[in-house]
Amino acid sequence: MTSDLTETTITEAVLSSFDGTPDPRLRDILRTLVRHLHAFVRDVEPTHQEWQNAVDFLTNVGHMCHGNRQEFVLLSDTLGVSMLVDAINNRKPSKATESTVLGPFHVSGAPRRPLGADIALDGAGEQCVVSGIVRSVDGTPVPGAFIDVWQANADGTYDVQTPDLLPESNLRGVFTADSDGRYWFRTIVPRYYPIPDDGPVGQMLRSTGRHPNRPAHIHFIAGGEGVATLTTHLFINQSPYIDSDAVFAVKQSLIREVVTVDAQDLASAYGVPNPFRLIDFDMTLSPTGSCQG
Ligand code: BEZ
Ligand code: FE
Repeated sequence: MTSDLTETTITEAVLSSFDGTPDPRLRDILRTLVRHLHAFVRDVEPTHQEWQNAVDFLTNVGHMCHGNRQEFVLLSDTLGVSMLVDAINNRKPSKATESTVLGPFHVSGAPRRPLGADIALDGAGEQCVVSGIVRSVDGTPVPGAFIDVWQANADGTYDVQTPDLLPESNLRGVFTADSDGRYWFRTIVPRYYPIPDDGPVGQMLRSTGRHPNRPAHIHFIAGGEGVATLTTHLFINQSPYIDSDAVFAVKQSLIREVVTVDAQDLASAYGVPNPFRLIDFDMTLSPTGSCQG
């Protein structure tokens, strides 16, 4: 029955309108969405004006989606939905490195760089070396693994945010691990930075007393022969906001210390002055076919 619907009968009517959906997964998703949405409205009892405000907010979010600015992804991130989806899709062997959000600043097809290359093309910031071994969960190295890295500069800005001011592919690159699964590169110690907050998501953060900052981190996507591709970050211990990431993406297992190494032979091998700063970040990848982001 689709006429004379009331507050109590309308939900069932909308649910049954999807009965003929040929794709059963789509039918279930839409029915579940309607059930939760109607329950939300019953719970909140919005005024017409409040509902219009919500529609206007989502419209503004949509208007802020173009090029590499994806406000809907930011909304999903700041409401914790991106990390929840990631957690659901990454129930994996406990030994594997944990995943976290991709974020909006990854660039497909970043330049391949030789092991040891310096990705800090703008020359600002405290130099450091990042090194590690890519392994599979049985402990064997993944020779020739790829490691795609990107990070913000010393001002907290990604190259793609101010392309006219920063060198192309600043602080990003794709490395190929050696025959022992080892990788290393030169970069700068990352710092915390705010997510783009000049749009409706920023407004939402301000009107709820939330800050827009992410703790210092470096992004990684790693994969290789026989292993599932992993999307993750390393986070810097003691970074401001380590306990209040605006996008809820910190995992204790991904937090690393920047150590000072005083060893001339190692410094020479990495091509940096001695002593130098080092971050160790090994990654353990699940077997191909398992759930991993
Ligand atoms: C980032 O780390 O690049 C990022 C992640 C989520 C939202 C905004 C930025
Ligand atoms: Fe980031």
